[in-house]
Amino acid sequence: MEEISELLPFLPYHGLMPIPERLNPAFASAATVIHPIDEARKRLIVALDVPDAAGAASLVDRLEDTCTWFKVGLELFTAAGPAVLEPILRRGHSVFLDLKFHDIPNTVAGAVRSAAALGVHMLTLHASGGPAMLSAAGAALEGLAHPPQLLAVTVLTSMDASQLAATGIDRTPATQVELLARMGLSAGIRGFVCSPREAATLRALAGPEAVLVIPGIRPAGAAIGDQKRIATPAEALRLGASHLVVGRPITQAPDAAAAAESILREMAEAL
Ligand code: C5P
Repeated sequence: MEEISELLPFLPYHGLMPIPERLNPAFASAATVIHPIDEARKRLIVALDVPDAAGAASLVDRLEDTCTWFKVGLELFTAAGPAVLEPILRRGHSVFLDLKFHDIPNTVAGAVRSAAALGVHMLTLHASGGPAMLSAAGAALEGLAHPPQLLAVTVLTSMDASQLAATGIDRTPATQVELLARMGLSAGIRGFVCSPREAATLRALAGPEAVLVIPGIRPAGAAIGDQKRIATPAEALRLGASHLVVGRPITQAPDAAAAAESILREMAEAL
């Protein structure tokens, strides 16, 4: 009979593996040799940007042998509620709940606790909510055996200098991103969502173990759509991403699983 250690490189990513290993492949135990495609699989998050639970279930059905991370955002969560998460989690997948919390510290702490109780593995909040809000979010997770990874959003990529100025901020988006990232780090945040343009700066600021999630990914030749700051999967990893968020290049492909496989191969080569 083959030794389990011989089989390990070929075992699929397992949803029940400890959360730190899922979130930051650098934490994977030295005894576990992971095949590059499975390493890539732990870093690819598919955005379920659909308006209802049936659409989400159909995508997960088509992708679940290929992908293990799914992002649920405002549109789907508002339409379908927390129940939409249950079948995804029950099948052992990981959920990134992208609701970008921004409220008074007490309310955000409560929302973070509620999200943790749902069993999600990553969730977002706005760094511009301030240090007290970010600290309260972190404190809300204290004592949990498997807390979700908090990810701070710095400046929305839809905000250019004139949009920032209209809100009273006379800095460039890049300077504001850096200020908010430093503030988030001081408040204990160890994960960020950012565009490819800011990835290298954030990686340098946050250090090698921080979780850096990058959307705006387009494989070479894919439709750009409304994204402005884009990178290929390989470029995003080289810029310092730990995880990539990909929506339409996978979800609107004629064969979603094949599109995801091709992205995974590109990622595996870059790792
Ligand atoms: O379809 P596409 O690959 O552009 O989807 C990207 C996903 O990442 C969407 O869910 C989008 O809301 C999200 N996102 C983004 N840009 C940001 C933050 C999040 O595209 N700056």
